[in-house]
This record gives sequence, C-alpha cells and structure tokens, in this order.
Amino acid sequence: MSKFETDMPVGAPTRHDAATPACEAAPAAASAVNAPTDRRRFLQGAGLMAGAAVFGGLSGGAMMAGFPSVARAQSRTEITFASARFFGKQTIAEIVDMYNQSQSKVQVKYIELPPPSSSTEVHQALVQQLARRSGTPDVFTQDVVWIAEFAGAGWALPLDEYFPAAERSNFFPGLIEACTYEGKLTALPWFVDSGMLYYRKDLLEAAGAKVPETWDEMAGIAAEMQKSGKVDFGYLWQGKQAEVLVCDVVEAIASNGGSILGADGKSAAINSDKAVQAVQFLHDTINKTKISPSDVLSWDEEPSRLPFTGGRAAFLRNWSYVYPIAQDPSGSSVVDKVGVAPLPHFAGGKSAACLGGYQYGINANTKNREAAVDFLTWMASPDTQLHTALQLGLAPTRPAVFDSAKLGAEQPFMQTLKPVFTGATPRPVTAKYAQVTLAVQSGVSRALVSGDIQKELDAAAQRITTIVA
Ligand code: GLC
Repeated sequence: MSKFETDMPVGAPTRHDAATPACEAAPAAASAVNAPTDRRRFLQGAGLMAGAAVFGGLSGGAMMAGFPSVARAQSRTEITFASARFFGKQTIAEIVDMYNQSQSKVQVKYIELPPPSSSTEVHQALVQQLARRSGTPDVFTQDVVWIAEFAGAGWALPLDEYFPAAERSNFFPGLIEACTYEGKLTALPWFVDSGMLYYRKDLLEAAGAKVPETWDEMAGIAAEMQKSGKVDFGYLWQGKQAEVLVCDVVEAIASNGGSILGADGKSAAINSDKAVQAVQFLHDTINKTKISPSDVLSWDEEPSRLPFTGGRAAFLRNWSYVYPIAQDPSGSSVVDKVGVAPLPHFAGGKSAACLGGYQYGINANTKNREAAVDFLTWMASPDTQLHTALQLGLAPTRPAVFDSAKLGAEQPFMQTLKPVFTGATPRPVTAKYAQVTLAVQSGVSRALVSGDIQKELDAAAQRITTIVA
C-alpha cells in the first residue's frame, strides 16, 4: 500500500483538486537527489525568473514488483519532465521515480504542474516554458486539445522515427490520429478520458428504475430520489467557467445532434437550435427541474465528485478517475453501490462523451533527445500503462492493455464502456483552441447564469467565428 493510500483522509485531494495534496504535506521518503515539490516556485520561475532551474520533487520508495531496482550510476543524463498533477493510489512523482530506479542512464526530474482541472494554468505554464525554446522541459504531457497548437508552433518534436508505424499500431487508431498534426506524429497517447454517468446502483435497484438513457429519464429519476429524501442532490455536473464546462457542454450539445463549430470548422454552430436546447437543459437542472444545486456553477471535477462519493447524490457526470475513489473505503461511503454508464442523450439523439486525456510530447528544443525518447518509451510501455490505470484510474491507450484481464478484474467499468472511450467526441480541433475555449467558457457561463441562452450563445458564436474563420 502506498504512503498516499494509507494517509488519504475522506475527501483527500485527488488529481482534479487544486488543493495541496496530502502526499506533498506528508514527509516523503525522499532520496538524496530529491528536493520538495513546490509548484508555485515553478510557476514563478516559468513566468518571471528566466533561466531559473526549478524542479519538482521525486519521492522515493515507489518500487513495484516487475520494476527492478538498478543502482544509480555516477553520470546519468538529466532530463526534466513537466506534467499536470494526477493522483490516485500513487503520484506521478512516484511513477517517475520507478523509471529512475529501473535503469542507470537517465535521471528524470519531475516538474509538477497544477491538476488538469486547472487547465488554463497548466497550459500557460507549458506555453511559457516551451516558447522559450530553451529545451526545458525535455518531456511534457499535454491535454488532447493543445496538440495542434504546440505542433503548429514547432514546440513538439515529430516522433515518427522513434515510434514507427508498427509501434503506433499498438495504440487506438483514433488517438494516434489525434496525435498527428499535418501528417506528423507530434504527441504520443498517454491515457484516454471520456465523460460518463455515475449512478447509485443500490438506489436505482430499490426504486425498480432502469439506468436512464435520455436526459429526461435521468431528470425524472433524480427528482424522485431528491423528493423522497434518499439524496440531497439529483444530478451533479461541472458548470464552473473552466475547461471542464466546455466538456460538459460538448457532451450535452452532441447528444442532441449539434456541435460547437460548423462542419467546415470555420464557423460556429454553438447558437443552433440544438445547442440552445442542450444548454437550456443544463440551465433547467438548476432552475426548473432543480435536480442540481446552483453550486454546480462554481464546481469543477472534485467539488462535484465529493458529495457523490459521500453518498449525497443520485447521479454524477465525471471522468474515469472517480471510479477507484468511489471504491476506496477510506474516501467513499458508496463502495460497491456505484454503476457507470454512457451519458444520457436527448430524445432522437445519441449519447456523447467528450474526448479527454493527456499525451506525451518531447520538446523540439531538447538537448537530450535520446534520453527523452528512452523515458517516453518506458512511460508509454504496456507495463507502465497498466500500472497507471490500476493506480490512478487513467484508461490505457493501448487496446491490449485496455482489454487485459487484470484491468477487467479491478476496473470492470472501463471495458464495459470501451465504446464510450473509443467513440468519444473531440472538442474543436484547431491550433487556436486556447482562444476558442475561453470564448465557449465565457459564453456558456453567461448563458447559464442569466438564463438568456439564445442571446448569449449568439454572442459567443460571433466571437468564435472571428477566431476560427
Ligand atoms: C480531464 C480531461 C482533459 C480535460 C480536463 C478538463 O483531465 O482528461 O482532457 O481538459 O479534464 O478539466
């Protein structure tokens, strides 16, 4: 059992939480080379202190079966690895340390960025570093929505020669496509995320209700359960003006047959009737059907997850990382009571999950290409993918790992929902995504707060069209 696992109190911060993680506060069994993590220093360094080398911490003691220890050599090539912070039973720092222990040529220093729910901050920290073209970080992880921007700017090293076609064929083809920019592989899939519906199996069974397939069915059951006092909240989702709001909205709109951009990718469709109806449904969850508290407007992943694993909600929209937490008695009061299903859809529409997940990238300006490729190869290997899936609840991007018996035994929902992961709906694919997301976030946010859905989405459509036209 890892240090983090034993120390984790109920509601301890996880990968989507911006609070200081328990394991950072806990005295780590740090090895001699390891300094304590301090992401504020990194962010300051990234923004203000040009050239300052600020590294994240590596906590030791993360040795696992199957990852043999190798004595540290005197002269290793040192490289840096910047990634958003993810948590589960282990930290990314511990996984990086497993690599350091597994060989004697390369020493990776981990630069810890904020969690993925602070998407804008993670993006900003990476852009500030990569735009310097200094070669730091050598390796990084990137949200699927930044691939085009980083590749277009020439910051991501094309990886085709290191991961030739035969190797690429071991990953889900759709993800390799998402990692390919103008014919070149500029990223390598790490994990795939998709939105899904968590529900209380026990309550649904007791009520004799089926897992809802349409939004109306879901809202009906949620309202009933709230009325009967079985739960405080019917449905929890993420309405905070942040990246995750774009994900929730892509899902709602696509499940009504609509989209954010028009088919040509050069105009906006976010003010179409279908999109307006979808955003109206989200507004209604707070104001009409009242199955969601108005707090969802300031909640991202973790604030919405907490009441659900605390047993206070019937339904939750969230990512796969929630499942292992829901099944962990130290942080959940709903162990064995949770089911996971595709998100509902509108009558006549089809369920849609937003495509999420992070990918690896190598800095085009790295001075340590060989070491970076070695580390990347280890991180992307089947063993590490399986380990990460089991420890962090992050879905593998290699079908062979995804379908493995071990994963099936521990996280059965992933395999049951395989079509959800492989058929997920991308957010707009454009090198200008950083601008598009801000326009979507603010437009939808205003619509949800004011209730003037058509007017706010018309205005958002105009802004978006100016960006992508
Ligand atoms: C998850 C997804 C990522 C998304 C983020 C939004 O981490 O993997 O793609 O952007 O959530 O909060």
